[in-house]
Order: sequence, then structure tokens, then C-alpha cells
Amino acid sequence: MRKTKMLFVLLALLVAAGGILSAQTFKNVTVIKNSFDDGKVGGWAHRGHPGSEEKLIIDTAVKKVGSASLKITNRTKTWHGPIHLLTDNAVAGDVYAFSGWIYYNQGPENQAFTFSVERSFKDPNEAHKYANILSFQAKKGEWTQIKGEYTVGADPTQKNIWVYFELPYKADDLVTDNDKIDFWVDEIEFIKLDPALKPKVQLDIPNLGDTLYDWFSIGTAVNPDEVDPSQQKAQLIMKHFNALVAGNAHKMDAIQPQEGKFEWRDADRIVEFGMLTGMRVRWHSLQWHQQAPAWLMQDPKDPNKRVSKDLLNQRLKTHIQTIVKRYKGQVESYDVVNEVLSDKGGFRTAAEGSLWYDILGKEFIFNSFKWAREADPYAQLVINDYNLESDKRKRQDMYNLVKEMLAAKVPVDAVGIQMHISNTAPSVAEIKETIDLFASLGVQVVITEMDMSIYASANDAKRTPTANDLLVQAQRYKDIFAVYKAAAEKGQLDLVMIWGPSDDTSWLNDFPVRGRTDAPLLFDTRFQAKPAFWAIVDPSKVKGLR
Ligand code: XIL
Repeated sequence: MRKTKMLFVLLALLVAAGGILSAQTFKNVTVIKNSFDDGKVGGWAHRGHPGSEEKLIIDTAVKKVGSASLKITNRTKTWHGPIHLLTDNAVAGDVYAFSGWIYYNQGPENQAFTFSVERSFKDPNEAHKYANILSFQAKKGEWTQIKGEYTVGADPTQKNIWVYFELPYKADDLVTDNDKIDFWVDEIEFIKLDPALKPKVQLDIPNLGDTLYDWFSIGTAVNPDEVDPSQQKAQLIMKHFNALVAGNAHKMDAIQPQEGKFEWRDADRIVEFGMLTGMRVRWHSLQWHQQAPAWLMQDPKDPNKRVSKDLLNQRLKTHIQTIVKRYKGQVESYDVVNEVLSDKGGFRTAAEGSLWYDILGKEFIFNSFKWAREADPYAQLVINDYNLESDKRKRQDMYNLVKEMLAAKVPVDAVGIQMHISNTAPSVAEIKETIDLFASLGVQVVITEMDMSIYASANDAKRTPTANDLLVQAQRYKDIFAVYKAAAEKGQLDLVMIWGPSDDTSWLNDFPVRGRTDAPLLFDTRFQAKPAFWAIVDPSKVKGLR
């Protein structure tokens, strides 16, 4: 009797332990897996609407392994391709890893393919949203492996997620034969990663904001997805940063995709998060020649004609004042104009992708500042540009322009130095000279978009950052932050913005070379503090620093 009881207790214990164990062992779940060898397309469908000519076929003549692959043929749009439901219950922060192979044999020698997601919303009347997640370069006639991760964003209103493959988007009237090529996919697998594998913020390290408090605020650029407080990424941001700017969500195309239709949802999420967490909030950018909606430069009656000078002026004024009035008292600093200078001297023109100067002359710059000031007399108004540290002529052009603006009583308060730099250039001395030069005009300097590529140029091949890459980077962050501190002590600057919280979402993972991952920031892809972080916070923690 006693023995039986003991046995029972032991058994119960074992079952309980088994339960705990199995709850702790991570489980990755395969959600999509197709080799197409069974002759079936599985859950894949073509994206074209019913009646579209586009077709999916099982092809036994072309395959990566096994006996067949999935062919997409009769495509007529760049976005024609195979689509599959990933989940009908989007959970913020879930990470899906995918892998597969892609192939084509017509058209150009190299071809980019895009992995994208489509999302529906709990409100069935809400329009689906589409986002390009990753891009792959394939070679004609060769199977190319595709691999990546997709993290579900923190939008509580979303419902279904579909995954699909397509060619880089072009408007229908621009589609050429090269955009209509057949392509094949094979051995496709999507795995939902166990939540236990998700990155976790380190709680036991000092935070950047406090460490730098005596000198300047330290901010980061964010995506709307990154500011959901239930997410680790938001925890990272809240722990370390005390200033915020949108990486893309405040640009002209995001705010006013159609004339007069302002989209505030994503823009508000970022500003509200900043307000709730007591951060200083910047706006980037009221004007820019990139990421601007097409209608802006078009004649309303004939999109093939350029907008008139008067109308463009009016559109710019409306855009600026609608935003600045809305966020008065919340956004404390605006990039009013962005990248208006040429890399070849003088102002940026159509030759470098901007029609602003061609249509309006430099007056548009002066007017933009006046309109912004009218709408909020207290906000800091910034003229922002890149390579000011590395390009002496551009730096001098900026100096001359701001001097002219000040003389003409144009309300410019600060020069924004983007500071997209690399492990190799520019020198620390050049950075100091640049800050001193602008400060000598009596305006503030804001470091608006700092990051530091591990690559010397676009010619460097993709690599995982080496220990030496990270050490060189740490040394430069240390030296450059020393320059910032000295500048802060002289009253030249009080705000440094880093262009992203952690390496996983840096824009340099796709720029200037698509798909070439970089590591330019202070936290790595798993949100862990890099040597560059320690170089700023406690250099004694990094062996090898000078
Ligand atoms: C970048 C964003 O980070 C990317 O996500 C986007 O695809 C392109 O723009 N200078 C600027 C920023 O002023 O707006 C740019 O941001 C980086 C270069």
C-alpha cells in the first residue's frame, strides 16, 4: 500500500516535471512547407485578381531538389507572384524565419525579388496594408537561396498576414517585358520561432540617457512598430533614449499620400509615445525631395505636366503649417528642409533628383522656415544635410547659406548634421571643425541621424562584423562622443540622435547595397549592448580601447 502510494507520488512528480520541461523546451512551429514534389501547389495562390492571366503551375522540368517546383507564369504586373496565408491571428512580436529558393531564366542578368507581407485588419472595412520586407538579388539561370526573418509589428488592429514574392514595384504603365518574366520557387519553409528565442533587453546595464545627461539628450529614430510598450524593442528605447524622431513616418509621403488627405495614425503613435515617456520629440522632415508623394510635383489637371510655382508654394505652405500647428507644444524641433544642398556645390537641382530648387529657387527654403515659425514660434527650426563633416565645400555652402538666412532674418535656429559616417571616415578632427564652424554663426548644432557603417564603401562585400570591426567602431564612437561633450560644454549642442535603436532595423542593412547587412548602431540585432555602447558608457569594459 505504502509502496503504491510512493510510486504514485513519484509518477505525479514525473508528470509535473515533464510538463515543466516541455513548457521550457522551445518549440519552433513550421507553418508553411512546400517542396511541390507531391504535384500540388499547397496553400499558394496567385496574387492577381480573379480573371487575371497570371498562373501557378507545378513544373517538373525546373526544380532545385526533388521532382518539381512552383512556376509563376503569365505575369503582367510587377506584383504578380505566389502568395500564402501566414497566420489569421497576427501576434505582435512573433518572429517568422523563412527560407527557400528562387529562379528565373529570362530578362536581365541580375534580378531583384522582393519578399513582402500583406495585412488585413480586425475592422473588415479597413484597407489591407502591404510592406516590402526583404530584397534578394538572383542571377539568371541559377537558383538563389532566400532566407530571412519577419517580425510581426505591434499593431493591435491587425488580423491576417499573408506572405508573397514579387518583383520590385513599378506602376502599371511603366511595366516592361523584364518585369513580366516567369519565375520559380522551391523548398519554401516558414517557421514560427519560439518566443523564448526572442531578444531580451539587458536590464542590468547603465542607461545612455543618464550617462550623458550632463551634456546632451540622446535620441533614436524609430518605426511606429517599435513604440509599443509591450515589446522588448520599446523597452530598449525607453531604457536608453530620451529623445525620439520618426525614421520614415513623418516624411511627406507618409503624412500626405494624397493631396489634402493627411494620415496621422503612425505619426501620432510616435509623437504620443514620446509624450507619454517624457522624451524630446523631433520631426523629420517637413520637406525633402525623397519619399515625397508624386502628386506634389504634378499639375492637378495633367500629371505629366509639372506643378506651377504658385501651386507648389501653396502646397508646401499647407503641408508645413498643417503639421506644425497640429504638434505645437509637442514636437520641439523640426527638420524644416532636408538635403537641399548639392554634392557638387550650390543647391540640389533636378540633376540630383530634386525639383524644388528648379521650380521655386532658393526662396522655398527661406519660406519654409518662415511658415514653420508662423505656425509655432517656439519650435527649434533646423536645416539638415549629410556629408557636412566629410565634404569641405558642402560644409562651406551650408555655412554661407545659413549666414545669408540669418542676415535676411529667416528664422533658422540650428544646423542638423546627419552624421551617417563609417568606421573609416571622416576624421574626428573634421567633425569637430564642422561643429565649430556652424556654431560660430551663433546657431545650434543638432546631430540628427548618426550611425557608423562597418564598411568603407559600397564595394565592400557583405560580412558578419568581426571583433576588429566592433572595436574600431567603439573607438570612433568614444572619440566622437568626446567631441560632442566638449561641444555641449561650449553650449554648441544639446541633442544627439542615433539613426535607430539596434542593428536589426538599421536602414544600412539595405543601403547603399541591398541586402548587405551592416552593424552601425549601439545595440546589436538581439538588442545587446555592443562595444560601441560600452565605449561611451564605460570604456574600461572594452579591451583594446585607447
Ligand atoms: C532613410 C530611412 O532610414 C529608410 O528606412 C528609408 O528607406 C530611406 O530613408 N538621410 C535622411 C533620412 O535624411 O531620411 C534617411 O532615412 C537616411 C538618410
